[in-house]
Amino acid sequence: MTIDPAARIAELRQQLARHNESYYENDDPEIPDAEYDLLVAELRQLEDDHPEFADGSSPSQTVGGAPNTQFAPVEHRQRMMSLGNAFDADELRDWAAKLERALDGQAVPAYVCELKFDGLAVSLRYEDGELVQAATRGNGRVGEDVTHNVRTIADIPHRLVAGGSGDSDGVVVPSVIEIRGEVYMAIADFDALNAAQVAAGEKTYVNPRNTAAGSLRQKDATITASRKLSFWSYQLGEVVGGPELDGHSDTFSFLASLGMPVNEHAKVVQTIDEVWAFVEHVEAIRHDLPYEVDGVVVKVDSLALQNTLGFTARAPRWAIAYKLPPEERTTKLLDIAVSVGAGGQVTPFAMLEPVFVGGSTVGTATLHNQDQVREKDVRPGDTVIVRKAGDVIPEVVGPVLSERPKGLPEWVFPTECPVCDTPLIRPEGEARNRCPNYTCPQQVRGRIQHFVSRGAMDIEGFGESRVDLFVSEGMLSDVGDIYSLDFERIGAMEGFGETSVTNLQSAIEESKKMPLGNLLFGLRIQHVGATVGEVLAAGFGNLDAIIAAEKEQISDIEGLGPVIADSVHAWFNDPDHLAVIDKLRAAGLNLEGPELIDVPQTLEGLTVVVSGGLTGFSRDEVQTAIKSRGGKSPGSVSKKTTALVLGENPGGSKVTKAEELGIPTLNEAQFVELLETGQVPDAAP
Ligand code: IVH
Repeated sequence: MTIDPAARIAELRQQLARHNESYYENDDPEIPDAEYDLLVAELRQLEDDHPEFADGSSPSQTVGGAPNTQFAPVEHRQRMMSLGNAFDADELRDWAAKLERALDGQAVPAYVCELKFDGLAVSLRYEDGELVQAATRGNGRVGEDVTHNVRTIADIPHRLVAGGSGDSDGVVVPSVIEIRGEVYMAIADFDALNAAQVAAGEKTYVNPRNTAAGSLRQKDATITASRKLSFWSYQLGEVVGGPELDGHSDTFSFLASLGMPVNEHAKVVQTIDEVWAFVEHVEAIRHDLPYEVDGVVVKVDSLALQNTLGFTARAPRWAIAYKLPPEERTTKLLDIAVSVGAGGQVTPFAMLEPVFVGGSTVGTATLHNQDQVREKDVRPGDTVIVRKAGDVIPEVVGPVLSERPKGLPEWVFPTECPVCDTPLIRPEGEARNRCPNYTCPQQVRGRIQHFVSRGAMDIEGFGESRVDLFVSEGMLSDVGDIYSLDFERIGAMEGFGETSVTNLQSAIEESKKMPLGNLLFGLRIQHVGATVGEVLAAGFGNLDAIIAAEKEQISDIEGLGPVIADSVHAWFNDPDHLAVIDKLRAAGLNLEGPELIDVPQTLEGLTVVVSGGLTGFSRDEVQTAIKSRGGKSPGSVSKKTTALVLGENPGGSKVTKAEELGIPTLNEAQFVELLETGQVPDAAP
């Protein structure tokens, strides 16, 4: 199919104009930034290839949207430019090479690498040190007056003071200074805001950037004040007076000395290889930062060279934005299917037209549960936004409603298990639908896979495909069958050589000696993880004692509660489960726990508080040492405290409290004595 360039250019210009309006004017973008960038890149390419269609008002040549009429317009004395983009190392190198050519073969001696904050740009104007005006970028020439709202942002000083960061020597506050930077919402503040929305039964916000933008552009400044916004300064606009600066890096120390927030990650480097190393560093730490970044901004450090390089119609030549791989993209939702887990839980997931997002290609994404599908209202046939941040499992954020085909039907949750056709149930108060059929082949597979996995019985060479094979061949219907597998039959199966059969056989044999805690974990009893498995094994000493235990005996064990007790008790009272246990017993598995040691109850009735680190005990071991001897060990000192044990760096408030109440303090050796004898030795000197 050939594309008519004129038609495609017109279409792209129209689409971009619409997206500019929803992004810049309504703070409600329909598509992720990365998608927008692709449209711009496509348009630029077409315009470059077909100069006959050039148009100065094309969205490829202009920045942002028209100013919103709600706010008074502010004409920027110096334009607020956008930046050119680079998407890979080659594009960064091309940029550096272009600069070198423009500088007659002279390489740029130093670059400043900065984080590209994902917020919205504002320009702050200070006259004689007073904040007199704050404006958004708008279309780059005219922005919106948001002074009232900006005054509510705690990071932004109303008055510049020479020596704001303590280093005041010789700093002169210019008579006029425009400081540019990014207003953003920290992730923790965004999460807190959304938690409050949920608590109030209100709709949650989509992401920190849009929320920051929406919060700043409120008619009522008290709303802005109620949202926690923050600010990083990174660039100067008009400046009258003040010190002579040589490099952009000097701008940062100057801004800090005036009391402006300056981000600590900015770094001066000499070569483009070092720029690339900075990019890789940012990729690695991106998800540890308490705010969102979508790239790295690289600027030529020397202000003299910046001047020589100048600007294109749209952006400075001396700076570029490297965009990190997108974390949100749109794609087609081909279908919604459901998967059945080992516990019978039925989870809907999206089958997507594969899309590159968050550093990998994504073809499926979880939709969590029935309610989430309904809430998001995603339908097969929709264009959807897919998000994948870092190692997070890809998820469908929501549909792009403007792209929904007319009459697209809602998706209906299945009423029967897709594997065994049993009618699904949704237990009261649970978000998940379940297949109640314990012998559903998918559940059988899931339980066996869990049993043989590393944290449980750790049977090497027993991967998912072999579990699937043996289950579908009817050789395994529960974990007990693992120990009576017919190896002759396996040896005759395709893909099994002699060695692999022997290895599998000996790995299975070896697993019979696994500790009881691992076996309990491997049985996939609800609420019994690896730790609870160990606690049960240590608490009862053998499997028969656990099978015979009453609920109260289980919940009496330190670290276990009534929920675990209910679940364990119910599991071992199910005849199907006991039949599996019989098979395991007959196969000769280890059903004995670690030996129970009778600890003398020396601390019965005593309360021992520990503060600071001890050399011979970890924090958990201290607690166990006290509690297993019948003592109590709360986190604070009170009248009831018998003694306070002081380790390395003890908490000052506990020491003061103990002094006030006349409670004896002990060192580590005296603590050991107390554990043994139950007698409080003479207090530490
Ligand atoms: S400098 C003339 N530095 O990215 C240079 N911009 O695509 C002007 N941004 O409008 C911008 N972090 O909203 C600069 N460290 C940083 C930035 C940054 C985020 C944003 C800003 C700007 C856009 C450019």
